[in-house]
Amino acid sequence: MSNSPAISFAKPSTPKKGSVVILAAVGGALSASAMACDPANVLKRAFQVSDFTGKLAAKIDILTPEATGYDHLIAIGTGAPDKLSEQDWLKMGGSTWAALGKAASATVILELEGYEVTAADVAGFALGLLLRAYVFDRYKTEKASGKTKPEKSKAKKPGDMRIVLQCANPAAARRAFADARSIADGVCLARDLVNEPANILGPLEFAARAKQLETLGVKVEILTEKDMTKLKMGALLGVGRGSSRPPRMAVMQWNGGKTKDKPLAFIGKGVVFDTGGISMKPAGGMEDMKGDMGGAAAVLGLMHALAARKAKSNVVGIIGLAENMPDGDAQRPGDIVTSMSGQTIEVLNTDAEGRLVLADALTYCGKRFNPRFMINLATLTGAIMVALGKHHAGLFCNDDTLAGQIFDSGTVTAEKVWRMPLGSEYDKMIDSKNADMKNIGGRWGGSITAAQFLKRYVGETPWAHLDIAGTAMGSPSNEINRSWASGYGVRLLDRLVRDHYEA
Ligand code: BES
Ligand code: MN
Ligand code: ZN
Repeated sequence: MSNSPAISFAKPSTPKKGSVVILAAVGGALSASAMACDPANVLKRAFQVSDFTGKLAAKIDILTPEATGYDHLIAIGTGAPDKLSEQDWLKMGGSTWAALGKAASATVILELEGYEVTAADVAGFALGLLLRAYVFDRYKTEKASGKTKPEKSKAKKPGDMRIVLQCANPAAARRAFADARSIADGVCLARDLVNEPANILGPLEFAARAKQLETLGVKVEILTEKDMTKLKMGALLGVGRGSSRPPRMAVMQWNGGKTKDKPLAFIGKGVVFDTGGISMKPAGGMEDMKGDMGGAAAVLGLMHALAARKAKSNVVGIIGLAENMPDGDAQRPGDIVTSMSGQTIEVLNTDAEGRLVLADALTYCGKRFNPRFMINLATLTGAIMVALGKHHAGLFCNDDTLAGQIFDSGTVTAEKVWRMPLGSEYDKMIDSKNADMKNIGGRWGGSITAAQFLKRYVGETPWAHLDIAGTAMGSPSNEINRSWASGYGVRLLDRLVRDHYEA
């Protein structure tokens, strides 16, 4: 990431200048190092005046305290130190970034009275800080700002900021941070892809971004329309027909595990823009459909994170890339297409296109790689937001062990999932009179019938489907994200791999 703050590590010592951040536990308790930054005791009085109680991620900012010579002296609350969770460290890092505002350099003293801050805590803090620092401002020129004088138009960028994290064991923290940085880069890559408008990021451009992972040692193949025609991917190809920009499929392989180990497989829906096609969507809010490749973005971000931190497992990432447009050549409601699996699909609504793209991606993945499991991510249904709102992704799974692992990873990373049902009653709802199945299941249970559709393409392989329509974009602001795109799924699945599938 070029536009992210520079972070370094050092042993505790009282800083001389710049901005200083200290941690304050419940009741405003400070460590000895923190108190040394405040010889005139201004913090204590500030705590009283402002009712600062040291609540988690609360902050208090004192400008240029005379006695110290600092620009800002900032206290971040930790709550009760022995109750701090992994995510709490990310939140504190995020709050710290926000509190620092436009400061140019800062020292953060990561010490707490009566609690030993670990290298993992420090790395988590740094991760939260990097994620909060993310901005999508590529298209903000200085031309429209009205600030004509060059010295005034020099807005501070996150990349200009230097931050020193003081902690007990800087060497260990630096090592732990290497992985955190890989994960932050993966999340920010996913956010960038989702935020990018569709005129800039079509299927070809997206495929080119996948190809860039080769610099990290990932093997990347791009299937063209011709390749996919040979493979008889009639479902995916049907979706792309209405667009002047042809579809692609990217196949990425990271081989960090033992040669004989079956790979883990992650599959993403990459609809670069979803107009609905001939079954066109209403105009209001349609711009959000530039994010309909959130599943593919998460897969790319995950592959980036895993390769950058040299994960010890074999992983395959497959993304189906297409644009869903209306056109003289677009597919129509009522068309019947034949998927790579040989199963036929009656396309009753061209706006239920994600499942068509995924059907062929899942079939290809299962046939070619015989993976240990397949997990797909997709901004698949509006109905999942009706069911779960924007705080949990829908989890559909044919394997209780895998479901449990994903649920647990969701809890520790706060990329939460909620399990939804599958069942033969729902499966029946997509039977078609004219073909093997239809691509919509009627009025009720829309997320479930979409999942049942995918299930018809996975066979016996352990499989999970994450419906991330509510979590990938339009995300509620929180301590570690202010961007429209959240990068949801990267941290969740990196954690799943790390906790259960690395040698
Ligand atoms: N990409 C949409 C789902 C979506 C909607 C994602 C809103 C994010 C925000 C998907 O392709 C779609 O259009 N689904 C339809 C399915 C319906 C036609 C059965 C939907 O949810 O309305
Ligand atoms: Mn659609
Ligand atoms: Zn869609």
